[in-house]
Amino acid sequence: MRFSYSTISSIVATLFASSLLASNADAVVPTYKPYEGKISEDAFFEQFDLGWKSRWIPSAAMKDDKLSYVGEWAVEESFVLNGVKNDKGLVVKTEAALHAISARLPHVFDNTNNTLVLQYEVKFQKSLNCGGAYIKLLSEKGLQYDSENSLEFSDKTPYVIMFGPDKCGADNKVHFIIKTLNPKTNEYEEHHVKAPPMARMVQTTSLYTLIVKPNQDFEIRINGVIARSGSLLNPDDFDLVPAKEIIDENDVKPENWVEQEFIVDPNDTKPEDWDENAPYLIPDPEATKPADWDENEPEEIPDPTDLKPEGWDDEEDGFWEPVMIDNPECENHGCGKWIRPKIKNPDYKGKWTPRKIANPEYKGEWAPRTIPNPDYYEIISPSDFEPIGGLGFEIWTMDDHILFDNIYLGHEISEAEQIANATFIPKLNSENELVIMSDPNVEKTSSPDDPYLQSAIVSDMYEYALDNIGKFLGDLKYYVADVIEKPFETLGQRPGEAFFFSSVIVGTIGTVVGFWTLIINLSLSMINSYFEDDKTAYVGPSSSVKKNTAKGNSKLEVIEEKEGTKGSKANETTAKKR
Ligand SMILES: *[C@@H]1O[C@H](CO)[C@@H](O)[C@H](O)[C@H]1NC(C)=O
Ligand SMILES: *[C@@H]1O[C@H](CO)[C@@H](O)[C@H](O)[C@H]1NC(C)=O
Ligand SMILES: *[C@@H]1O[C@H](CO)[C@@H](O)[C@H](O)[C@H]1NC(C)=O
Repeated sequence: MRFSYSTISSIVATLFASSLLASNADAVVPTYKPYEGKISEDAFFEQFDLGWKSRWIPSAAMKDDKLSYVGEWAVEESFVLNGVKNDKGLVVKTEAALHAISARLPHVFDNTNNTLVLQYEVKFQKSLNCGGAYIKLLSEKGLQYDSENSLEFSDKTPYVIMFGPDKCGADNKVHFIIKTLNPKTNEYEEHHVKAPPMARMVQTTSLYTLIVKPNQDFEIRINGVIARSGSLLNPDDFDLVPAKEIIDENDVKPENWVEQEFIVDPNDTKPEDWDENAPYLIPDPEATKPADWDENEPEEIPDPTDLKPEGWDDEEDGFWEPVMIDNPECENHGCGKWIRPKIKNPDYKGKWTPRKIANPEYKGEWAPRTIPNPDYYEIISPSDFEPIGGLGFEIWTMDDHILFDNIYLGHEISEAEQIANATFIPKLNSENELVIMSDPNVEKTSSPDDPYLQSAIVSDMYEYALDNIGKFLGDLKYYVADVIEKPFETLGQRPGEAFFFSSVIVGTIGTVVGFWTLIINLSLSMINSYFEDDKTAYVGPSSSVKKNTAKGNSKLEVIEEKEGTKGSKANETTAKKR
């Protein structure tokens, strides 16, 4: 064993270099901690940790009396891009099956003159081709729990709000449906939000938030960013409020209704002197021939320079004619026959048409009359939802492994935001780190409109590095310019930058030099050992680092070679992949 100064310095430099390169690959996955922030008394919050089993009851109901909810549910950790260790969620376990599960709220949720905030996480661990991932808030009125709080939750169970992603093929939306009782018909009606936003189809976790305020404004947020907002009372957003007036279907246009606004004046006749045949242009009668105009001078003359070639035989070669050119005489005065210029004919009238006049019989465009809507009922505050007694998932899906987590139903927007800050944001950041580390072909979650994701995802490490090098050089340039201009002020007032720039430059040079020192040192020791023992290569205790750029990712393979085993034993080589 020979430790020289250069060996140690190369190892240090290499570790420094690898830590720089691998800093992104060494994401520290956080471990689950129960949320410790404030949750109001009347709010419901589910993290799927202790005691979830007593709250969540899978349904064994039948849908349409034919199919039953055979889909299985589990509470388990994410199996792909698991951003938080030991963090469990509710997982859909069966492909192509109906699933239903519900939880009874500890207190009936009354939203009268209050804000409703519903928030939950969805993770499409195996992507979503066709299936629902929406949550339903169940109307307390229709719930029939047995003594064990068990509910035969089905499509028939009355709900108040249905919210969340639903996708099948190209049809992708985030539902926001409100079910209200129509007092006229005494039936429940579904009202869908118009122009619903699209659900986010990524393998990382997405956060869906619905907010309905007592002033009837609503917001749908995806990952904390508003994806749709409006008002329950605005007909552009919802058809919750029935029209006061409707068109009378029985109204028909009267036979004698005149819709022609203009008619030809029957009293208008063509004037006697109207000559339809008068030409548009006539020769100007007032024009006079210029005095120097020479009608005898031709406009073109044979080109005097164009001579008949020698040996031209008119009989054999055809009749020879010189090229004609503009007569240079005509540049000074007009030549050839003088013609009167044309002017617009003052007597021109064109085709006569009778004038149009307003039709005295005109009654305007006919429209059927409107009558009071017999189905109208007053609804002033649709955000005063029916009391909510439970919530759950009642979905059909082709794709299993949809994971739900951190379900919040409450009245406080700030509570939901604090939950998101404490649970969702760190989870997504961690998942995005894992996306970067894993195969670069994994679907990117970055979206330009998404501030949460922008910082987390660096879609192209190479571009990112180039950007930062460019930025560094730009900053350095300005600093150096300042130092040259005002050396004492700049260095005195901004010493930190001098330290930073020089450290980075020295560090970079040190890393590069250290790396090559290591390579050279290693090669030398291999050559040395070859000459020491020509049968078995001897490699000293050191590490070699190889940068693997095959996948575009900076991965490091550290090949540690154990203390050389001289003699017949082969070298033991362990390769560690980081
Ligand atoms: C609704 O709540 C607000 C604020 O708490 C209160 O000022 C208002 O009077 C309430 N309106 C009704 C109709 O209860
Ligand atoms: C045409 O002229 C007659 C007689 O002057 C007049 O009574 C009639 O109203 C005119 N018609 C229109 C369409 O102006
Ligand atoms: C959540 O985090 C963001 C960013 O740090 C912060 O601006 C916001 O105030 C936080 N929200 C709450 C309710 O704490």
